Amino acid sequence: MLRRFPALLLALSPLLAAALVAMAAPAAATAAQTPTRGALYQDGPDGRYLLDSDWTLEQDGSRRTVTVPNAWNATGDTLKDFLPKIATYTKSFDLPGAGLKRDWVVRFESVNYRATVTLNGHRLGTHQGAFTPFEFVLPRSFLRRGANTLAVRVDARHRTTMDFPFAGIGSDNEPSAGWWPYGGLLREVYLREVDRVDLDRVAVQPRLPCATCAATVSFHADAHNLSADAQRATLTATFGSQRTTLGTTVLSAGGTSTLSGRLVVRNPRLWEPGSPTLYPVTVTAKIGKRTVQTWSLKTGIRSIRVNSNGVTLLNGKPLNARGFSLHEDWPGEGGAQSNQTRDEQLDWIQQAGGTMLRSHYPLHPHVYEEADRRGLLVWDEVPVYQISTSELSKAPVRELADQYLRDNVVANVNHPSIIVWSVANELNAKVGSTQTRFIKHSVNLVKRLDDTRLIGQAYAGYPSSGCQKGYGPLTALGVNLYFGWYTGRLGEIADRTQLSSYLDQVHRCYPHKAIFATEWGAEANRDGPADEKGTYAFQSQWVRDTLGVLDTKPWLAGTTYWTLQEFRIRPDWDGSNPYPTSPLHQKAVITYDGVKKPAFDVLAQMYKAHAQLGR
Ligand code: GCU
Repeated sequence: MLRRFPALLLALSPLLAAALVAMAAPAAATAAQTPTRGALYQDGPDGRYLLDSDWTLEQDGSRRTVTVPNAWNATGDTLKDFLPKIATYTKSFDLPGAGLKRDWVVRFESVNYRATVTLNGHRLGTHQGAFTPFEFVLPRSFLRRGANTLAVRVDARHRTTMDFPFAGIGSDNEPSAGWWPYGGLLREVYLREVDRVDLDRVAVQPRLPCATCAATVSFHADAHNLSADAQRATLTATFGSQRTTLGTTVLSAGGTSTLSGRLVVRNPRLWEPGSPTLYPVTVTAKIGKRTVQTWSLKTGIRSIRVNSNGVTLLNGKPLNARGFSLHEDWPGEGGAQSNQTRDEQLDWIQQAGGTMLRSHYPLHPHVYEEADRRGLLVWDEVPVYQISTSELSKAPVRELADQYLRDNVVANVNHPSIIVWSVANELNAKVGSTQTRFIKHSVNLVKRLDDTRLIGQAYAGYPSSGCQKGYGPLTALGVNLYFGWYTGRLGEIADRTQLSSYLDQVHRCYPHKAIFATEWGAEANRDGPADEKGTYAFQSQWVRDTLGVLDTKPWLAGTTYWTLQEFRIRPDWDGSNPYPTSPLHQKAVITYDGVKKPAFDVLAQMYKAHAQLGR
């Protein structure tokens, strides 16, 4: 859930707070600014103000002015640039809007990795983990008329035991996580103006029993009273031209209550690739006759399920999607991408005839909104990445996984583009009791928040791992395939001609699950002979052979090539390329600088020739 500093505790500790003020709050090097109203994505409550320009970044004794989002190690290819550091971001601002007459919340969309946040020297709280948002209420006793100073200490060091993506620390004290650990305020920061009642969670979930049925839309909203007095709030909702009420509740000071409602949409216009119909939705909170907050979003009506024959149906039509996995990484921006470069990546997916995307972590809300608008499907994964079973047995690791699962569903549940919530990537391929418990617990946690989507997990495919009972609660599986690129344990995936029989084994193991081929790729960074690993010719032939096999499996729910665009990874990475280009991961079909490799055209030609929805 989004973080809230307990308002009551703060109200009791003005003296403590005053004492803390004595602690030197980092002096902001820039004059106070009045933030501008607006947001970098659409869905959400009104009253959002961007804190983007003129942040002071202090690191290693130096100080510079930056704009947020910011990754402090977006450039630089050496181990020194790679190794995680600590920094403090400071921003001075005047309260906009109605100022001290209102309540205020600060919202961080993504900080990598640990954040400690203070306001005018008063500690607001801490948060661990990138890629999902968190918020703190700004207690009135902490706020000042005039200049206020927000300070965020960011510690990007991933320890070996309790951090995601799991970072084993190598002999050189190098994190071994599967991508470059960009540090900083990687996505934007907002002030949110609240008039007593804040809707800090809104879930709009259409359910479509059949392709020609009426849809039932359920609404859930958490109404949070930020004021010091009890408030009587009434919530209403609109869906397209229809409206409903979520009821009235009396909220105690600091209290939260969940209100729900539903309505029926007859003859709905469905959302799917090719015709991504979206309905405008609002959820409004009123106190008396006064509207105090309006949440607006767009969502679509669609169904995703697996039938008794194990065929994955989107709106009742067989799905066999084609697409790409991607990382948030762009030259010069690093992991702090702009909407413009996010859109360029989505353009490439569509230029290749792709209708699906996957990542190892929740993406920026703008990407999901664009996927909603473009009719792209999303495998949405939390970075429970290559966590060893011994780590998974530790309560703090499981609690962090729960935090990611909960925060991801709460933040992204309204996007019709998301069809799979993935709880992990490449845990141990032998699913023992620890992982079995993790899967069962995670599936139940996600289902309680959203039962309208598939719940999956990606794993590394090896013939010797056989069928795993522990995957039982999952409705989707993602198998990562590198036959004929890696050799695997005991050389069992060295021969790409074994891929087809392995896929048939997977289907026999899990006849009633949605099976996605979530990863397959071959590194390529140079011209050369087709029989030499690492050449463009080898990659093109390997892609043609591998996709050729995937195209013979009509029961597949889809596949995403690993990856769309090259990304930065630890400097010693070679990915089994005899001549690697440090620190780049180069299985992509587009270079880091945006140049398409020959394999892009191979994929595009085969993707466009393949029926992805309906047959
Ligand atoms: C794994 C992992 C990826 C990684 C890939 C590779 O499947 O999920 O993050 O990049 O292997 O080895 O290229």
